[in-house]
Amino acid sequence: MTQQSVASEIKALLKERKAVLLAHNYMRDEVQAIADITGDSLALSIEAAKTDAEVIVFCGVHFMAESASILAPEKTVLLPRLDAGCPMADMVSAEALAQLKSSLPGVPVVTYVNSSAAVKAVSDICCTSANAVKVVQSLDEDELIFAPDRNLGRYVAGFTNKRFHLWEGYCPTHERLRPEVVRELQQTYPDAPFVCHPECNPAVVALADHVCSTTGMYQYCQASSAKRFIIGTEAGILWRLKRDNPDKEFILASPALVCPNMKLTSLEDVLESLQSMQPVVKVPEEIRKPAKRALDRMLAIPRD
Ligand code: 13P
Ligand code: SF4
Repeated sequence: MTQQSVASEIKALLKERKAVLLAHNYMRDEVQAIADITGDSLALSIEAAKTDAEVIVFCGVHFMAESASILAPEKTVLLPRLDAGCPMADMVSAEALAQLKSSLPGVPVVTYVNSSAAVKAVSDICCTSANAVKVVQSLDEDELIFAPDRNLGRYVAGFTNKRFHLWEGYCPTHERLRPEVVRELQQTYPDAPFVCHPECNPAVVALADHVCSTTGMYQYCQASSAKRFIIGTEAGILWRLKRDNPDKEFILASPALVCPNMKLTSLEDVLESLQSMQPVVKVPEEIRKPAKRALDRMLAIPRD
């Protein structure tokens, strides 16, 4: 079967199943190409919460499909590759986070959406890279626990005087980008703004002209008058940037910026999943309800 015929079968089945296909900005090019919505974690959560489709096909990683199941429990959520996980999300467990929380009474827990449903369930509020600063600023307390991404936490801490108890998690993909590599690129292309994701190491973030979520990056590059950009996030973002800005050049800061989990899902996996209506991701009610409180509290914060 050619990619084209797989894509047409997917389209037909999406219609038949009353399904919507959500794809993260890091997905393979051909998966993004057939998605109904492509976006960052925040945009995809909002879409999952409001869609009137009966089935959500989530092309992303496990925690994203869990978030969709938390926000839209009446819908069937399919994750075509059940093995697509997030190593950073795996760096914190609900038990360990609850233990830290009980050792710091009254200190709220802010949890990055890159976390399991069980971890969200012991959290007070969630955040994404797009709204983390606003989420932290929305808290009355002047001390907080931030999990699991220490790099995002450090970045957000720079915007407030609040005291952060940082969890020592990180994204192995973004952590691979080294500041010396960025500096060299900046010397070679002095006209190119360096745009990076806050999951990068603080030494890399310090070199950036703009720090933002993946959708923020897309919007920044589209609006900018610059003709080339150095991109400090996962390679999948390049597809839409190039497609929609043919007159601009995008330089990936390092070939190491590839998340193996985000690259697992193929068109064939999506087709098989729609045919079999498996694998389904369903968060049990006793975890879903407290996890939803943390996600709802985040979603109540107005976007820019
Ligand atoms: P955003 O798309 O929300 O910026 O998140 C990046 C990421 O690492 C998702 O796994
Ligand atoms: Fe997790 Fe990093 Fe991959 Fe995002 S890019 S899914 S944070 S490992």
